[in-house]
Amino acid sequence: MRDITAPESFRWRRFVDVFEHTVGLAGYDLVIPPLLEDIGVFTRLGEATDVVTKEMYDFVDKGERHVALRPEQTASICRSFVEHRPTTPFKAWYAGPNFRYEKPQRGRYRQFDQVGIEVLGSLDPYIDIEVIQLGWTFFAALGLCDVELAINSLGTPDDRSRYVAALHDYFESRYSDLSPESQQTLLRNPLRVLDSKRSQDAPVIAEAPLINSYWCSEAAEHFEVVCEGLDAVGVPYTLDLKLVRGLDYYRGTTFEYRGGTLDSAQNALGGGGRYDGLVADLGGPDTPGVGFAIGLDRTLLACDDENVFAAPSQNADVFVVDVGDGSDALSVCTELRAGGIRAERSWDQRSMKAQMKAANRSGARFAVLIGESEREAGTALIRDLRSDEEQLSVTRADLPGTLISRLSSL
Ligand code: HAM
Repeated sequence: MRDITAPESFRWRRFVDVFEHTVGLAGYDLVIPPLLEDIGVFTRLGEATDVVTKEMYDFVDKGERHVALRPEQTASICRSFVEHRPTTPFKAWYAGPNFRYEKPQRGRYRQFDQVGIEVLGSLDPYIDIEVIQLGWTFFAALGLCDVELAINSLGTPDDRSRYVAALHDYFESRYSDLSPESQQTLLRNPLRVLDSKRSQDAPVIAEAPLINSYWCSEAAEHFEVVCEGLDAVGVPYTLDLKLVRGLDYYRGTTFEYRGGTLDSAQNALGGGGRYDGLVADLGGPDTPGVGFAIGLDRTLLACDDENVFAAPSQNADVFVVDVGDGSDALSVCTELRAGGIRAERSWDQRSMKAQMKAANRSGARFAVLIGESEREAGTALIRDLRSDEEQLSVTRADLPGTLISRLSSL
């Protein structure tokens, strides 16, 4: 866990603003779920997932309730849906921290932020297309170019079960060729063996059966519409028939956005898919769902690698130098800020020289100087800190207007 300090913190805020704007255009409403939920909300993510078995921050609270800090927000949104029963299709977006007790490394933290969307209540494959396209559009809005979209379908629950059984049998038959870690994974979840990045497992995985042989016609048709729709709107993708996601609730369409500049173990910028059984698992009506989450930490690392979406400048517009008792700086800053100008000043009646040094350090374009004679005459001097131009004397009444027009003409 770490502090996000300025100017990075401003970048984080802007990241969420860009996301809100992107999904707002498609009619998604903000939901802010609590950080803490009953543990039962998250156990539905799958007893066979590390997120639930190994990484959850869970504890018994003072009221003897077994609770957990959310490891993700899809389950929270579904729990919220069950509780409030909004009309469907229900389109929600969210942003905020999640907690997983993982091994920290670059791009992997124990507290990490995500932005995401979820759509509940429609089986329409065009919803899958909208969701996938929105993630793609968002990366483009950040200026990120080196992103690869991988898609797959896990079929219906029945297709998936038949596939998992076939995978299990196949990996059993190659048991001695697998790494000890994958032998362990096989006991819990044969699908996850496909995710192994170990070189020892690669030849075994390369010959593993593929999910498309297990799709029923309904699942195959749904996926075909999704692929054709992505083609139609110009979202490029690669078909990855071995794409399995880390959470167990996925059915049908699954996808992942990968950053080309990131290390392959941490290159998933975001991912998602359909989870048609989750709302029912949480005690609600049988309601399909699809969505994705994008990690801020990793996506910003990818932005750094591509030199895009830099931290916004936090420079002051104007620095007010008051060589008197500081009361002029108070009134001038008040007037300038009321006019929308970012104005800073010094404290503790520092010398003119020290205040000018602070003005230069602040990055402000203009300094406003009020010395003894300006104070008496009711005037102020405007000095352009980035040119040799003569300083300008203006009346105090004209000061805000003059600065607004000078700043807007830059
Ligand atoms: P996820 O794949 O677990 O999916 O996480 C989505 C993204 O969150 C990852 O691609 C990654 O960028 C980021 N992330 C995950 N764990 C960490 C970590 N420890 N440190 C930094 N970043 C991390 C979900 O969370 C699903 N809820 C996505 C979804 C939404 N599926 C359907 N709707």
